[in-house]
Amino acid sequence: MSPRKVVVTRQLIEPAQKLLEAASDLELIQWPTDQPCDRSWLLEQAKGASGILLMLSDKCDKELMDAAGDTLKVIASFSVGTDHVDREAIRERKIRLGYTPSALTDAVADLTVMLILMAQRRAGEAMGKVLTGQWPQMPWSPLLMTGPQIRGTTVGFLGFGRIAQATLQRLIPFGISKALYLTSKPGQPAKEDHYGLLKEGSIPVSPASDWKQLAAESDVVVVGCALTPSTRHIVNSEFFHQMKKLAVLVNIARGPVVDTDALVSALETGDIFGAGLDVIENEPNIQADHPLLKQPRCVLLPHVGSANIETREQMAVESVKNLLAGLKGEAMVNEVEP
Ligand code: DGY
Repeated sequence: MSPRKVVVTRQLIEPAQKLLEAASDLELIQWPTDQPCDRSWLLEQAKGASGILLMLSDKCDKELMDAAGDTLKVIASFSVGTDHVDREAIRERKIRLGYTPSALTDAVADLTVMLILMAQRRAGEAMGKVLTGQWPQMPWSPLLMTGPQIRGTTVGFLGFGRIAQATLQRLIPFGISKALYLTSKPGQPAKEDHYGLLKEGSIPVSPASDWKQLAAESDVVVVGCALTPSTRHIVNSEFFHQMKKLAVLVNIARGPVVDTDALVSALETGDIFGAGLDVIENEPNIQADHPLLKQPRCVLLPHVGSANIETREQMAVESVKNLLAGLKGEAMVNEVEP
């Protein structure tokens, strides 16, 4: 039997690369750098592949699956989000989909807390003053760069999966007073309680009845839901109008969940106090003249939520394990339910 072909769209961190290369029964086709591969290369190389390991920036659509043909049995995505994968198409073709949800929870939750504090405490704006030499014109004064405090706040989570719950776990010691969450089943208790936060009740944690309640009652709104047709632009101008004037919005999920134009006007008109974003619509094509970058109370990072060394290594290793397990018909580390 000829070796099964696998296509990998990046060079991987060493332990993952070694694991991949140790699988001697495979024909390994791999893009030679850690930068995005050419789409035309991927479509060409996919022909006859049994498995593809890809990144969130590689679209896994019908075109790619058709290019691979009937041999394709496994997709291993180096990500927790799977909105780049046409789920219906993989279901129809009975292709298994591996992903890395548990590997990056801590890294993204850490960054979420950082963004909340940066947005509340105007860290981007304050650093901007220093970097542009404006500190001398801005001596210490009682109200200089003041923003709302985190203690005593109500934090609202749009989406309440692992990352949101790990964020809440980190926020409780900061003295927040209450958490609300909204899932696809409004008003109903969350399906999973990853850290026992719903049971122990050190602070009240309850489901919001709808997005209006979440927007109106939260001092901090954390967007952590998957991008689906029903969550696209769920945070829009109506949502911002409901929010408190001293509230901040943090998005660590996917850019299109938030309507960027509406966010720009909410910041401009003072409908909300600030924003901390790790993701944005149309990333990475954000030029220096983007209207959001003119908003001093908005911190924008280039989708680096999971970017710590340990996490990226674990994501890479788990992706390879998912790929190899899928090819052998074994259990993956994490597999998306069909
Ligand atoms: C993912 O894996 O989906 C994250 O967005 C990467 O940080």
